[in-house]
Amino acid sequence: MKLAVPKETKVRENRVALTPDVVKELVKAGFEVLIEGGAGMSSFFSDEAYTAAGATIVPDKNKLYADADVLLKVNAPSPDEISKMKKEAILLSFLFAGTSPEVISACEKAGISAFSMDAIPRISRAQKMDALSSQANLAGYKAVILAADTIGKILPMMTTAAGTIRPTKIVIFGAGVAGLQAIATAKRLGAVVEVTDIRPETKEQIQSLGGKFIEVKGDASIKIEGGYVKGVSEEFLKMQQELVGKHVKEADIVITTALIPGRKAPLLMTEDMVKSMRFGSVIVDMAVEQGGNVVGSELNKTVQKHGVTIIGEGNLPSLLPMNASALYAKNIQTFLLHLADKDKFKWEMEEEITKGSLIVFKGEPVHPSVKKSVSA
Ligand code: NAI
Repeated sequence: MKLAVPKETKVRENRVALTPDVVKELVKAGFEVLIEGGAGMSSFFSDEAYTAAGATIVPDKNKLYADADVLLKVNAPSPDEISKMKKEAILLSFLFAGTSPEVISACEKAGISAFSMDAIPRISRAQKMDALSSQANLAGYKAVILAADTIGKILPMMTTAAGTIRPTKIVIFGAGVAGLQAIATAKRLGAVVEVTDIRPETKEQIQSLGGKFIEVKGDASIKIEGGYVKGVSEEFLKMQQELVGKHVKEADIVITTALIPGRKAPLLMTEDMVKSMRFGSVIVDMAVEQGGNVVGSELNKTVQKHGVTIIGEGNLPSLLPMNASALYAKNIQTFLLHLADKDKFKWEMEEEITKGSLIVFKGEPVHPSVKKSVSA
């Protein structure tokens, strides 16, 4: 089968779906690999490195799309790009299908099959394919580095002849994959870290990384399914804001990571909370692409509000493209080899990973998340 990797077209995207190392392994496994010229350059992988790994460089994007048996991407292709794919070709990329009806319609029209990296079930045998985790992990690290680079002070305590500098205090909302990495990174840099999450099991994980857990007693409105928060009431969020507000007022940096899959991110930082922070404080809103956890954050912008800098970088993994592409490529390689061999896909429709991640099958939307969005 011919695997094809185009250059990503999303604005500010530096990642690429396959690295030369992974290409080498796929070629060894019997696949033919086509790479669009320059596809890896923003991740610092040259065309020569791909060629040396056994890939063929294709300068013409349209030809690449038309020749692909399997198209491997980071972000979903545009409907126009999908229309260039041949019937019964297969797409593997992030799709966020529940909120991208135009992409799903394009897959239907083109008669292709599409698997979504973000829909791979989070079971232990799928960990090596889990691109949401690999990318969130890097994003959590980068959020702390950005905040540390923006704030006009150091993070650790420092005793000098001219006096002692107190350590920077960081409050983190959400201790999922990104939040836990943010805690570890902030601790390594010497900050004092306080964390809140509404899943009670996070308390131990936070403490084991050296963070202090801000306890907000949950209520019956919190719905948790499969380790994810699925819903939470406005009343609860108000109570949480009041309780955590005291900690935020004392913080130099706030990092918010709270998401509710398939829904708008919960609002955790009100304008009053932003206002309450010290002049010169910094907030990183990691949920900005999903509507944001912070009043006043703006997608892909850094803004000043009430003397506080609010960073709304929407694609943090893309700022670490060498690592992000390497991990993503490993995720996609493992996923592909689970679904297919060099000659064909297995189409084991009842197998959990296939069933969970197959969104469109030969032009038919088959996943529960898209059956709804397409008919809506
Ligand atoms: P996420 O990105 O959906 O959310 C981030 C965090 O925000 C979560 O910890 C969530 O509890 C928290 N949150 C939501 N609403 C909040 C609120 N109002 N206030 C404070 N915090 C709030 O989560 P992520 O990082 O994708 O992880 C979700 C779950 O999946 C976790 O239980 C994680 O351990 C699990 N997981 C399992 C894996 C596996 O078994 N293979 C791999 C990765 C994650």
